[in-house]
Amino acid sequence: MNVDLYERIWMWAVGVVLALFFTSTAVAAFGHQMHPPSHIETIDPAKALGDPRFKKQGVSVDASGRVHAQVLGLMFTWLPAEMTIPADTPVTFKLTSIDVIHGYQIVRTNGQTMVVPGYVSQFTTQFEAGEYLIACNEYCGVGHHLMAAKLHVVPQSQWQAPAREVADVR
Ligand code: CUA
Repeated sequence: MNVDLYERIWMWAVGVVLALFFTSTAVAAFGHQMHPPSHIETIDPAKALGDPRFKKQGVSVDASGRVHAQVLGLMFTWLPAEMTIPADTPVTFKLTSIDVIHGYQIVRTNGQTMVVPGYVSQFTTQFEAGEYLIACNEYCGVGHHLMAAKLHVVPQSQWQAPAREVADVR
């Protein structure tokens, strides 16, 4: 089959671009542990504030010693606005919104998820010690740019763990 030179150039160019895209996706997924949050759990957004899963926001430790963080998103703040968690320890974040879609992004880490009313978003990750900015990366209204929070990650020896929960509400 006779393929025109220019057509051949474009075919190769498209092939190279596709290979680049697939490679960058693979590097992000396997090299930087960036996976889409996958967890389907529903919640009534109108009652989320009183829901046992979110009545207490912030960091908790379950009966088996695993660290959790419950976060509520609402226009235009994150509850809680500050959290302190231990470094190099897997923390399971559970988030929901009581109004519109927000985006929870722990800047310069792989901790990120959309926060959708009606659903509980979940991801588990761990951090090096340091201070992290949490931003809303989903446009949610006039105060979107103000919707920020802070994450303090301290060495395990300095972390003051909350009392373990006896009854596991999760
Ligand atoms: Cu919340 Cu943007």
